Amino acid sequence: MSNNKKILAEEKRYLADTSRVKYFDVVIDHGKGATITDADGRDYIDLLASASATNTGHSHPHVVAAIAEQAEKLIQYTPAYFANTTTAKLTQRLAKLAPGQFEKQVVFGNSGSDANDAIIKFARAYTGRQYIVSFTGAYHGSTYGAISISGVSLNMTRKIGPLLPEVVKVPFPDQNQRLANESDDDFSERLFKQFKLPFETYLPADDVALVIIEPIQGDGGIVKAPQKYMDLVYQFTRDHGIVFAVDEVNQGLGRTGKLWSIDHFGIAPDLMSVGKSIASGLPLSAVIGRREIMASLSAPANVYTTAGNPVTAAAAMATLDVIETEKLVARSERIGNFAKAFFEKAAKRYDFIGDVRMYGLNGGIDIVDSQGQPDDEATTKLIYRIFELGAIMISLRGNTLRFQPPLVITQAALESAFAMISQAFSELEAGQLTLPETDNHIGW
Ligand SMILES: Cc1ncc(COP(=O)(O)O)c(C=O)c1O
Repeated sequence: MSNNKKILAEEKRYLADTSRVKYFDVVIDHGKGATITDADGRDYIDLLASASATNTGHSHPHVVAAIAEQAEKLIQYTPAYFANTTTAKLTQRLAKLAPGQFEKQVVFGNSGSDANDAIIKFARAYTGRQYIVSFTGAYHGSTYGAISISGVSLNMTRKIGPLLPEVVKVPFPDQNQRLANESDDDFSERLFKQFKLPFETYLPADDVALVIIEPIQGDGGIVKAPQKYMDLVYQFTRDHGIVFAVDEVNQGLGRTGKLWSIDHFGIAPDLMSVGKSIASGLPLSAVIGRREIMASLSAPANVYTTAGNPVTAAAAMATLDVIETEKLVARSERIGNFAKAFFEKAAKRYDFIGDVRMYGLNGGIDIVDSQGQPDDEATTKLIYRIFELGAIMISLRGNTLRFQPPLVITQAALESAFAMISQAFSELEAGQLTLPETDNHIGW
């Protein structure tokens, strides 16, 4: 039996099923840049970047050195009681990185989920209102607050209710809902009408604390809201004194070819959650927001023993150095265009490729059947074959290929990955691909 299978079989006895979405029987041993190596010594090109949590690549030497140096100095002293030199520096750096010409403050957390919980707390405290508006297809995390405002998987809400009360979900302007020949503006106006429907029927706008959105939905399929729609929603929040927050946990830090995904829209959010890649994958998150909103809670309304831990803060400082010195934001845009050209060319060649969405080095590629409908089975066959050939790529919402390599991936590695993907595409067309034998269901 391979090491991978042996470790997985043993782990399965003890690890609760809910901890992992099943994809491939692989156990990762180590990683470098955009390559990961499994317990049997097999290399894979990483097209997932730990779910967009390692934009600087695996074990970047500058980040590793910063972690080691900080660990020698001080691993942990809770920022909930005392400042430390490293986290103090990061706080200022992060506050200055968020969009908007106004004063900002920061709180730290341990995960994207708790950062989004904090956004709910701040918005309610600041406005004195209770209702939260979020979007279908959103993924904001797995704590109770974050689950309550998410709308992407039945298994996330099944059996665990009641969830947080006073949450209303409106349809995300997913391009798949666009009518034939509908312009961007018409689509935006039609979806904005749907956004307003609750407000016109049962939801008084002056009872609403917060609208929270992923400007480009990640787990919802890498789907970008149209500019006009965002402008309309943002203006609505201005007109009604509602806090406007964006979730940058997945799409932030250069992933989309801009530092923040909201930078595509020229809007400065009141609050913004950041996580995943901020510390190259160490558990750190933050909310950055308008000073007056952040001042609306008193200690200890949002403290965690390890949030803003000095080692994670050192990793974040080094991560931001790497993003700046290696110009990863521009790189994401540049090689993202190369990736876009590859997938768009493939879409012309193969009927089973539907919509291709690529924003920076960050793509969702829909796989469809002959009627243009989502084809989950073909998607599973493809990702499984790509895995066999040597690259890690997973799916989103069943029929979307998720393309999010580390932003440091080399051109050569990208070309090798595209050769594997091309081979899988042509084998699917030739009817040569089958579903994986061992797995009855893979993916969400
Ligand atoms: C947009 C978004 N927000 C929040 C989260 C939750 O972050 P975490 O898993 O670190 O709690 C995720 C995780 O995938 C995400 O994609």
